[in-house]
Amino acid sequence: MTKPIEGFSKLPKAEKLDWITANYTNDPEAAKKLLKRYWNPDKSLQQLHDEFIENTLTNYYLPFGIAPNFLINDALYAVPMAIEESSVVAAASKAAKFWLTRGGFKTTVLGTEKIGQVHFIYSGNPEKLKAFFKEIKAKLYSDTASITKNMEKRGGGITNIELHVKTDALKNYYQLHCTFETLDAMGANFINSCLEQFAATLKEGAQNFPAFSVEEKNIEVVMAILSNYVPNCLVRAEVSCPLDQLTVGGQLSSEDFGRKMVRAIEIAKVEPHRAVTHNKGIMNGIDAVILATGNDFRAVEAGIHAYAAKNGSYTSLTSAEIKDGIFRFWIEVPLALGTIGGLTSLHPLVKLALEILGNPSAEELMQIVAVAGLAQNFAALRSLVTTGIQEGHMKMHLLNILNQLGATQAEKITLTNHFKKNAATHSAVVEAFEQLRKS
Ligand code: MEV
Repeated sequence: MTKPIEGFSKLPKAEKLDWITANYTNDPEAAKKLLKRYWNPDKSLQQLHDEFIENTLTNYYLPFGIAPNFLINDALYAVPMAIEESSVVAAASKAAKFWLTRGGFKTTVLGTEKIGQVHFIYSGNPEKLKAFFKEIKAKLYSDTASITKNMEKRGGGITNIELHVKTDALKNYYQLHCTFETLDAMGANFINSCLEQFAATLKEGAQNFPAFSVEEKNIEVVMAILSNYVPNCLVRAEVSCPLDQLTVGGQLSSEDFGRKMVRAIEIAKVEPHRAVTHNKGIMNGIDAVILATGNDFRAVEAGIHAYAAKNGSYTSLTSAEIKDGIFRFWIEVPLALGTIGGLTSLHPLVKLALEILGNPSAEELMQIVAVAGLAQNFAALRSLVTTGIQEGHMKMHLLNILNQLGATQAEKITLTNHFKKNAATHSAVVEAFEQLRKS
């Protein structure tokens, strides 16, 4: 068995490669060669990526693509997407083109409030704690003045601090529930710095609060951390058109297509198994833009799924209706995003993605991301209620299968043409490939 290693992070990169490949791979030389193939020949670019995280061995590529033709509030965007799933960019592009000639996407930012909390245990009289909070509140603001100065200059900062009594949920549990405006920054560092200062001020202030008993003075701060659940950092995106313009070709009338779309969403509203997959499709679009623009997809995922379950049952993030002959389809999602700070100023491709989007503010990016989610859901439901998902999916997946089979460029062209007219199941592709090789 491989022995644990001390000081791995301090080893030079080459030695890290030696150690990992010698101890955990079947063919260390081949593994090393593979890892090195992904190194960038531009040394400074490689170093930049090496330093994003600890123990970097190599780079891990994702395709970076573009979905053009997104008309959002009458402005035309080409939306960068970083994702591995073969059909996502194609689906986004198709949905963008569909709505381009039907008025495009309309979006509104409903709020930009970020949240952070200091969680603490206080064993004592709640009324005394409330009096203490009243007294110390101004100091919570003044002690963070050096942290908030720049943010305030730009129009942001701490917007509120409240004492929340949580003792019904957990014995002696209280929190400072704090809200922030972080403008174009996602704000995690700003918020966490403020919260850690609040925690220190709270602890120290309690020691000196005369009305507290010895036990009450000993407030136990458990943790101070932002919340990724941001239901008031919310954006809405919508498309609509007269029902008779909802034409999708084939046998289906626009009325039937519209009704089926509404039905599909009604099902996702009431059935959590379906809602999870429905929302996963939305996240295909959202995550791809979040990744391309250097934002934190884990934070966004966690916050959005919590929002989808906010009424106690996991439900669809999108809604649809047909009213007075108009089909309307919309999404509301919480998105805490940044267009300055973090990766946005470090990663060259992220900078380019933001440039392609016209260097948006965080609010503008929220709107673009929500649109990507709505477009993706439209494309998925459109396929699901008409041809089924596999037709488009397998067409896009065809190249992946052909690459796995080791097809040459000429074979890929022949087989791609063949599968324009034939159903591209995995076995059909393998069979056609083998036939072609035989002939
Ligand atoms: C696949 O990545 C996403 C879908 O399953 C979404 C959906 O079912 O709505 C197609």
